[in-house]
Amino acid sequence: MSYNIRTREEYTRSYQNSVEKKTEFWEGIAKEFTWFKPWNTVMNCDMKEASFKWFEGAKTNITFNSIDRHLERKSEQTAIIFEPNMPNEQATHISYSVLHKKVCKMANLLSEMGINKGDRVAIYLPMIPELAVSVLACARIGAVHSVIFAGFSSGALAARVNDSSCKMVITADGSFRGNKTIDLKGIVDEALTQCPCVEKVLVAERTMTQIKMKNNRDYFLKPLLEKASEKHEAVHMDAEDPLFILYTSGSTGKPKGMVHTTGGYMVYTAYTFNNVFAYEPNDVYWCTADIGWITGHSYIVYGPLLNGATTLMFEGVPSYPNPGRFWEVIDKYKVNQFYTAPTAIRALAKESIEHVNRYDLSSLKIIGTVGEPINEEAWQWYNTNIGKKKCPIVDTWWQTETGGILISPLPHISPQIPTFATNPLPGIEPVLMDENGNESNENDTVGKLCIKYPWPSIARTIWGDHKRYKETYFTAFPGYYFTGDGAKRNKDGMFRITGRVDDVIIVSGHNLGTAPIEDAINEHPMVAESAIVGFPHDIKGNALYGFVTLKELPDGNKNIKLEINKIISEKIGPIAKLDRIQFTSGLPKTRSGKIMRRILRKIAEGDFSNFGDISTLLNPEIVEEIKNGRV
Ligand code: PRX
Repeated sequence: MSYNIRTREEYTRSYQNSVEKKTEFWEGIAKEFTWFKPWNTVMNCDMKEASFKWFEGAKTNITFNSIDRHLERKSEQTAIIFEPNMPNEQATHISYSVLHKKVCKMANLLSEMGINKGDRVAIYLPMIPELAVSVLACARIGAVHSVIFAGFSSGALAARVNDSSCKMVITADGSFRGNKTIDLKGIVDEALTQCPCVEKVLVAERTMTQIKMKNNRDYFLKPLLEKASEKHEAVHMDAEDPLFILYTSGSTGKPKGMVHTTGGYMVYTAYTFNNVFAYEPNDVYWCTADIGWITGHSYIVYGPLLNGATTLMFEGVPSYPNPGRFWEVIDKYKVNQFYTAPTAIRALAKESIEHVNRYDLSSLKIIGTVGEPINEEAWQWYNTNIGKKKCPIVDTWWQTETGGILISPLPHISPQIPTFATNPLPGIEPVLMDENGNESNENDTVGKLCIKYPWPSIARTIWGDHKRYKETYFTAFPGYYFTGDGAKRNKDGMFRITGRVDDVIIVSGHNLGTAPIEDAINEHPMVAESAIVGFPHDIKGNALYGFVTLKELPDGNKNIKLEINKIISEKIGPIAKLDRIQFTSGLPKTRSGKIMRRILRKIAEGDFSNFGDISTLLNPEIVEEIKNGRV
């Protein structure tokens, strides 16, 4: 079974094997890794029950496979390059042997602090080496990491910490983002007033700002790490032991803590990293995501390190100190694979091309995108100006729930079709469902995207709520995994993902559920009701438009729109702020009381052409009022 796919024939053969001889196929890939005990069964899955078990009976450790396994041959090779926010600050190159020592020290420290196998540890850190080290140390001792993006507010942090009753939070004094300094520890302190489960807080020092330290709860990392031993035996984990929880927004209610387990996730992320980025020894790979999202978990930390790669971690933002920063970093480290989001590409494409042309990008071999559909203009700009028309673009489609990339071009194998994710990777069988819930088998069709068979890194459950997991992903089309996305398949069988078909809106690549934002708005004392929809935005892809009904007319001095955005920032985070707010005397509702969002979406988009059937509305007259009041 071949692990590396570098030719069309290898792809065709691997794909065929993966479909026809599933067990042998995945077994062959899994044998590339170190297992302390082999598996009894390769796969034991039931889509109807949402039950997935891979490599049952086997024991392994993903950190051992990410670091220790490479020490013999690669101990002096750089594992992680850390590029700080400020370009004049010295970058750090962490070799595999140094990373090993750092992770062992951290693992020993966590154990000394009372963290045991199975305990949950929240990690709320900026993009500094301590973040990768903490993740790997948790996995080394079998603690379940729950990384929470350090742009979330204290309320969002508290909700996530409590949902999985984390015993510890690892954070920093503050974070640097462009020319801003953010008081991370202050946010943690506020969150922890609501989190009785947290016993200890470890604090990395980054900004050296004055912070409050609570006795017997808060500890600075540095002195403790200095004392910790650099020898540590990786804990033997069952293949199905939870590795991490990562929260993602749902269309309703509270965020979903997606649970990924050890063995299947390891095999799948490593395999897809190697093949989608055609990684060769000594390449320098850079993914610009934050480790707070799944892209960072799978393709900054685990996928690259499992392959013994050199992975770059960037602390800053693309626009600081100028919009040439990404291109400068590519030139500085001679990056070979570059992986970013369409929203960043669109923002940088608006800047003077001089910011690109100042740098030598000839090291690039493959460039990628992820997180949202890329529009043709952005794809062409990326292809021409960054890839110089010689680097294949890998438009990778996947989700927090899928753990790894499912549909993506493979470099020099798949056709380059702007905006198309093209082919499923080996082991993945995407299908499109028609209006009646049946598979559409012909090409040149559109439908709801489902996946027919399980793959090793499919999420196993939602933390504490298997019923919700089953209902969200496995009931709309029984026997299939429903992605929540719509897609098109062209006449040649190539896939293009068109966007969400549920109430999740992707803003600048971040998934935002409408319900939690509406709940936040409704906390404003003057708000009676609200509904959020997305509308197209040049840079963010989508922006948020809020329709808000007030209990009474506001007095002229109150800026309710500002207050609403302030509440959203506090409850969720600045990423969920509304771009436009329109006050209306009511919302279009069906007789059963359901808001007809399709009408609101059209109004927000400025498309008044055809609202479809509005006869089932309880209050059809409201449509005209809302249309006339569009902001
Ligand atoms: O709608 C799809 C979109 O992002 C969603 C998943 O978001 P999240 O769980 O945050 O993971 C993002 C990073 C993997 C999907 O349901 N999406 C992701 N990649 C693409 C995409 N839409 C179109 N094209 C893509 N390449």
